Amino acid sequence: MRLILLGPPGAGKGTQAKMLKEQFGVPQISTGDILRQAVKDNTELGIQAKSFMDVGKLVPDEVVIGLIKERIKQDDCEAGFILDGFPRTILQAEKLSETLTEMGLAIDTVVNLEVNAEEVISRLAGRSTCPDCGGMFHEESRPPKVSGVCDGCGGLLAQREDDNAETILKRLDVYQESTAPLKQFYKKQGNLKTVSARGSVEEIFSRVLEMVK
Ligand code: AP5
Repeated sequence: MRLILLGPPGAGKGTQAKMLKEQFGVPQISTGDILRQAVKDNTELGIQAKSFMDVGKLVPDEVVIGLIKERIKQDDCEAGFILDGFPRTILQAEKLSETLTEMGLAIDTVVNLEVNAEEVISRLAGRSTCPDCGGMFHEESRPPKVSGVCDGCGGLLAQREDDNAETILKRLDVYQESTAPLKQFYKKQGNLKTVSARGSVEEIFSRVLEMVK
């Protein structure tokens, strides 16, 4: 199964990707997670990416395209993968298609998670994540058992640096300008499936599963 999850910031791409990963046993490839790890490790990539991520801009195409090309060639991707946060521009989508074609492969389904800006802002402003295991929580829809502490590993939860009001609005603008055109791109290819991302996490998951079957 080779799947792309499209959608604005806070649509629930990461939440649904983790559930799909469990269901189908294929890796979740999140460019956001890869870049945040690089920032945490203070690598050359991380230093380069941080200045873009902190202000809600996209990291340059050539950087993320290179990352993904290497990642999808790894052994654990043989049975498929779930792309979460990639592609985000038409150029990224074209380069992904080229790479997959060279490998004799193709994307099966692109699931587009639709949600309005008001819901996005509320989800992102209430999100906390575990820097140790990647666990994700929300103060209302998915609160941790103990406030500020990860249910999974006991790590201290933190708010993402880019989840402040100003940067959320910038990320939404960038989404509209650079990423929303991908809906048309994949519609033309015939593999775009749109689901409403309003409702509980479980409700959305069952809608996504219907689309993936
Ligand atoms: P990235 O990490 O990809 O962030 P994003 O696209 O802005 O998406 P988010 O992770 O914020 O949201 P999500 O849709 O995964 O929602 P989630 O499941 O977490 O990218 C960050 C930055 O990295 C970019 O701005 C850019 O700089 C750079 N970058 C990354 N990829 C790039 C690329 N390809 N090219 C260039 N630059 C790139 O859910 C959000 C919250 O809502 C959580 O608290 C969750 O618990 C809650 N929630 C989820 N579902 C529901 C629900 N149904 N009801 C209520 N709450 C819910």
